[in-house]
Amino acid sequence: MSFANEPTLELRRAPARESLLAALRELDARLPLTVPVLVGGDRGCAEGIESTDPGRPSRIVARAAEATAAEAAAAVDAAARGFRDWGRRPAAERAEVLRAGAARLRERRLELAALQVRECAKPWGEADADVCEAIDFLEYYAEGAAELDRGPELAQAPGERNVMRYAPRGVAAVISPWNFPLAIPTGMTAAALAAGNAAVLKPAEQSPASALMLVEALHAAGVPPDALALVPGYGPPGAALVRHPGVHVIAFTGSGKVGLEIVRAAAETPEEQGHVKRVVSEMGGKNCVIVDADADLDDAVPAILQSAFAYAGQKCSAASRVLCHEAVAGTLVERLAGATEALIVGQADDFATQVPPLIEREAQERVSRYTRLAGEQGRLAAQRDDPSGEGWFAPPTVAVDLPAGSPVLGEEIFGPLLAVEAVAGVEVACDAVEALPFGLTGGLFSRNPATVEHVAARLPVGNLYVNRGITGAMVGRQPFGGNRRSGTGSKAGGPGYLLQFTEPRVVCENTVRHGLVVE
Ligand SMILES: NC(=O)c1ccc[n+]([C@@H]2O[C@H](COP(=O)([O-])OP(=O)(O)OC[C@H]3O[C@@H](n4cnc5c(N)ncnc54)[C@H](O)[C@@H]3O)[C@@H](O)[C@H]2O)c1
Repeated sequence: MSFANEPTLELRRAPARESLLAALRELDARLPLTVPVLVGGDRGCAEGIESTDPGRPSRIVARAAEATAAEAAAAVDAAARGFRDWGRRPAAERAEVLRAGAARLRERRLELAALQVRECAKPWGEADADVCEAIDFLEYYAEGAAELDRGPELAQAPGERNVMRYAPRGVAAVISPWNFPLAIPTGMTAAALAAGNAAVLKPAEQSPASALMLVEALHAAGVPPDALALVPGYGPPGAALVRHPGVHVIAFTGSGKVGLEIVRAAAETPEEQGHVKRVVSEMGGKNCVIVDADADLDDAVPAILQSAFAYAGQKCSAASRVLCHEAVAGTLVERLAGATEALIVGQADDFATQVPPLIEREAQERVSRYTRLAGEQGRLAAQRDDPSGEGWFAPPTVAVDLPAGSPVLGEEIFGPLLAVEAVAGVEVACDAVEALPFGLTGGLFSRNPATVEHVAARLPVGNLYVNRGITGAMVGRQPFGGNRRSGTGSKAGGPGYLLQFTEPRVVCENTVRHGLVVE
């Protein structure tokens, strides 16, 4: 495989920072952007949603359509038409189009990063990395398409030829979250298209403009308008796509509540629907880091801090609970608390910012509810003063002494609140992680190779990180996705992901023919 990850910008260099700020100024002059329904090349209405800057909610970043169920249905009909052409194109041609899409995103990377700063308050470094990941997904799945086309090797016996092919399934509904506003919709859409499906993208209501830029880039690169539609909106157009009998595969990433609803709804198979829907559902988690007594705390403290508080804890992989050996727990808490006091909380467009505002008011209320509860049930070892001014800020907080069974220890909070517990040892910590219904990411700090091997074998998480931070999976290097109630799919950015968008077909031919028909 010739795939290589797209390099991120070197933000320590002034020219790189200045080019991003210039892109932001240009973007600001064009706000608000307009995000219509896009079906078969026609631009529909762009009314119903105002997506705002989480750092300055009075600034409207985009006016987007709230697509109706009828528009979602029209998008599926167009995609069914588009599939007839796109699905028949040779894999190599589809791969070329996806690579051209990657090139378009690369050309516009500054503007795309600036848009994430405004649309989702994603700090510059994270926004730039998100754009790189989107480029990676397009290029990785383009290579995967060619590999898929070659098919697997089967055993052959004399007198027969056995061939296995992976045919596209048909129409894919792609439903994405806001926290990776470009990378995640790009990954799921690119996979569907690479495997030969047509796609209808329903992006999160908080980040419609990033999705529009993706769809425009792919159309400009050569994806036919019928083969890729955009239906912005809140939940209802997503739910309409899930129920539509013309949809064959649903690729969803988001909360467990919505993901499970989709799994249930997609299982309904009405008489007129000649297939069973496949659902790829990547959901949330409660990600734990285990720190053993022999851990190097000089490594552990900054890595835990980064994992818990970067992007204000709004990554599905973010650390939310630390289980630390009691021999070092006191020191770890003291050091984490001190480091938390030193974090830079601020606006996403400031290069120094480590903890930006949360995505919306509802998120701020949710995090403050959990923080209040953590203070009531346990103790807050560190809590910053609320930053004043506009924006949906939540102060980074470290909570300790929580009782077993506290919701703060068992539920996904999706904000900058980290719980730390002292445990008797690694075995007890593993028991606690196993008792959770989730299985997304996990971490371990230990200098003992036997402990590393043991914990890796025991923990049910999809991605375990050892002696490093637990976020930042790279396409092709750390294929990403959860187990248990954190996900149903095979890993994004890894081998096997494209198979979920295909139907395997086997042909067995008798090669001992009685003569050939020559026309
Ligand atoms: N496992 C992963 O790879 C991964 C990655 C990123 C985010 N996440 C999870 O996503 C969540 C945050 O994202 P979010 O707030 O956008 O999630 P969400 O579930 O609220 O929304 C996700 C998408 O589903 C749509 N939607 C809402 N209701 C729907 C319905 N009834 N039918 C169909 N679609 C519907 C939304 O409009 C949005 O486009 C967190 O739980 C996080 O852990 C998981």
